[in-house]
Formats: sequence, structure tokens, C-alpha cells
Amino acid sequence: MHSWSTTVRVRSLASAAARRLRPEHPGWPAVLGPELDQGRRLRLRPPRAEDAADWAAAVLADRDLLEPWWPSSEQSWAERADEARWRERGWSAARAARNGYLVPLVIEVDGSFGGEMVLDRVDRANGTAELGAWVASAFHGTSVARRSLRLMVRHAFTEVGLRRIVAPVGVGNRAARLVLARNGFHKEGVLREHMHVGGRLLDHELWSLLPGDVDWL
Ligand SMILES: CC(C)(COP(=O)(O)OP(=O)(O)OC[C@H]1O[C@@H](n2cnc3c(N)ncnc32)[C@H](O)[C@@H]1OP(=O)(O)O)[C@@H](O)C(=O)NCCC(=O)NCCS
Repeated sequence: MHSWSTTVRVRSLASAAARRLRPEHPGWPAVLGPELDQGRRLRLRPPRAEDAADWAAAVLADRDLLEPWWPSSEQSWAERADEARWRERGWSAARAARNGYLVPLVIEVDGSFGGEMVLDRVDRANGTAELGAWVASAFHGTSVARRSLRLMVRHAFTEVGLRRIVAPVGVGNRAARLVLARNGFHKEGVLREHMHVGGRLLDHELWSLLPGDVDWL
């Protein structure tokens, strides 16, 4: 028969091993919403393997809107939009999310795939992360981008525990800079030749948000 102290020791070793295997990172996994606006039901939730076909169809259809701002690649657009890419990306995203570096969410509008909203480069020690997003063109000109951004920002500043969010925006990306500016982000400056996107090295504006910049948290 084990002594009480042996039992406690075994339990604490087991929970340390479990923490190592499944470390806890506040704010992940997460489902944000649902919320209703103009009759549309919006929800942000973790990506699933079954999203592959909808993601691929949306990326193929929106090439002209996405390609100028997405990282340059040797692959054709059809290869980049292949369902297999979603699954490959899903595995590495799941690992990064489990390790606390990423909060990858799918935007769901009335149950349909509507885009992605992601906190990347999450630095929990410093309380910072980089926001990235795209919204399928079927939902442009609606409140989907603004509401998804606000859901993610609230989550970042509360559950995840961040204190600063940045968003680099390719110079010329009018839609992205407008959405950020209208939701409290401040332009800090221009990062020269920051990223290779759309087949060219492009300057990026750096936009940032602190909790005190907004009154809707
Ligand atoms: C950035 C993005 C999420 C914004 O979503 P959205 O639904 O277009 O947002 P809105 O409809 O509120 O549009 C914001 C403004 O940009 C304008 N706009 C939208 N698409 C545009 C385009 N392709 N070119 C120029 N202006 C555009 C809209 O007219 C609106 O301005 P207005 O209110 O003065 O009319 C979306 O455009 C997108 O996914 N773009 C491609 C990917 C991307 O650039 N991601 C961001 C990288 S940081």
C-alpha cells in the first residue's frame, strides 16, 4: 500500500507531465461569439480539417484581392489554394497554438466559411502579438471585418492577456488600413521593404493598438 506522500508525489509528477504535454495558454482554444448583427450570425472558432474545401474555393475565387498582400511564392495560385495546403497548414498551426505562439481562428458567417482572423507571433512574456486577417469577398462591405476584428481584439486583451497588438499593412492596402484606422489602431510608421509579398518587396505601415485606444473592450 502506498503512503499518502507517495500518492501525492505520483499525482504531482503526473500533472507536471500532463502540463508539459498539454501546456496551458490562456485564450486557446477559443470560440468567440456568436453575435447577431444585421441578421447575420458571426462566430470565430478554431480551424477544422473539414474547412479545406470551403477555404480552397474562397482563396481561388479571391486571388486578385489576396495575392498582392500574401507572401510571395514560387507556386501557382492553384497549388497554393489546394485543399492539401489547408491541412498542412492546419497541423503546424495546431502545434503553434498548443505551444502558445498562435491564436488561429476561422470567421464563420451564418455557419459558412468567411475568412480567417489570426494572432501570430504571440509573445506572452511581453504581452504582444501580430494581427492578420482576410475576409472572403462575399462578405466585403458588410460589418464582418469590423466585428471579427473587435471580437479578436477583445479576446486578445482579456483572455489571452496581451497589452499591445500590431498589424503590418502593405503600403497601398486601402481596405486593411481603413478597417484598422476605424477601429482605434494608430499608424506608428513605415517598415521599409518589410516583406516580400505579391512578387515584390514592399514597404509596410506598422499599425498598433493598446487597450486605452478604444472604449469598446
Ligand atoms: C482587409 C479586409 C479584411 C477588410 O475587409 P472589408 O470587408 O473589405 O472591409 P470593408 O468592407 O469595411 O472595407 C473597408 C474600406 O475599404 C474599401 N475597400 C474594400 N476593398 C477595397 C479594395 N480592394 N481596394 C480599395 N478599397 C477597398 C471599402 O470601400 C471600405 O471603404 P469605404 O468604407 O470608404 O467604402 C479585406 O479587404 C481583405 O480580406 N483583404 C485581403 C487580405 C488583406 O489585405 N488582409 C489584411 C492584411 S494586413
